[in-house]
Amino acid sequence: MEKEFVINEMPVGVVGLGLMGCSIVTCLLMAGHSVIAVAPLAVDLVTAEDRIRGHLLRSGREGLARENSESYLSNLRITEDYRDLAACVLVIECTLENLAIKQTVYGKIEAVIGPDVLLTSNTSAIPISILQKHTLHPGRFFGLHWAEPSHTTRFLEIICGDDSELEKAEWLYRLAHNWGKEPTLVRKDIRGFITNRLMYALYREAFYLVGNGYATIEDVDRACRNNAGYWMTLVGVFRWMDLTGVAAYHTVMKELFPTLSNSTEVPALIDEIVKAGGRGVSNTKGFYEYTPEEARLWEETFERFSYEIRELALRYPADVVKRQLPQ
Ligand SMILES: NC(=O)c1ccc[n+]([C@@H]2O[C@H](COP(=O)([O-])OP(=O)(O)OC[C@H]3O[C@@H](n4cnc5c(N)ncnc54)[C@H](O)[C@@H]3O)[C@@H](O)[C@H]2O)c1
Repeated sequence: MEKEFVINEMPVGVVGLGLMGCSIVTCLLMAGHSVIAVAPLAVDLVTAEDRIRGHLLRSGREGLARENSESYLSNLRITEDYRDLAACVLVIECTLENLAIKQTVYGKIEAVIGPDVLLTSNTSAIPISILQKHTLHPGRFFGLHWAEPSHTTRFLEIICGDDSELEKAEWLYRLAHNWGKEPTLVRKDIRGFITNRLMYALYREAFYLVGNGYATIEDVDRACRNNAGYWMTLVGVFRWMDLTGVAAYHTVMKELFPTLSNSTEVPALIDEIVKAGGRGVSNTKGFYEYTPEEARLWEETFERFSYEIRELALRYPADVVKRQLPQ
């Protein structure tokens, strides 16, 4: 916990209350912030509070929340009025992945916040250097990239654009440790940041294997779960190579890299599914077919797992070995 922050005196704004906006609000409330949550769409006003209450209740049952849900909710104001953001020290934009929408939203936010208030976006893939060009004060603009569900995951990327001020990013980085995160700081803008660059390289190869008949979707999924799925919560790829012998990777890279997919096309398999309206578990049509009952059980199972994996990860923090050394 960073002593420089008095969390309960630092209101944070969240704009956009869909899937991620609600879990980000939950995380911030549990960390002790008061939160001004702006609902850009009327439908958010109807759904957001119940969604956030549901996350808080579950977090209470899982031992993640220290206070009861109503006490956290007393620090939440859901509003349609952007002017309520005026008192915030930080605003997190979490609207649809659409440049025009985000640009309009920044105009509304910047009309009411002071020039020192940090403005951030949870964009998955729009470069921060592009987004910040649509703001009045690009130096205070950053990517703040969360992983769903934000109130259980340890992941957070803080990303600088070309015009971002690094000291402000470092301040955000320190602040984020108060939110139960192990954040990473991306000091120079790059499309996809760290995590999407890594993950999309994996997705591309998965499509290559299936699309060319080397393996089925089920086989690729099984390989992911039982290989990387077993060690990735403990270590990242570099520590993994240290653990299992660097020289072998050096040898394999020479032979394997030239054979990996370097396709720049969207794979036909995902193209067909999306064009046919498939969204995955949420509408029961994706790479697998689901009955409504199976889809609901997958959602519940994923939620339960995200709490359990968090418990395990907390027992193995990044400095787990340093902690075992004699002081
Ligand atoms: N879903 C994920 O796992 C994930 C992970 C990382 C980052 N993100 C990013 O987070 C952002 C939000 O994603 P989400 O999954 O919460 O989406 P979502 O569809 O659940 O919610 C999007 C929200 O955008 C707002 N919105 C919709 N139309 C708008 C408009 N015309 N003007 C202003 N606001 C409008 C609404 O509040 C809506 O609830 C996106 O930029 C997405 O790329 C999502």
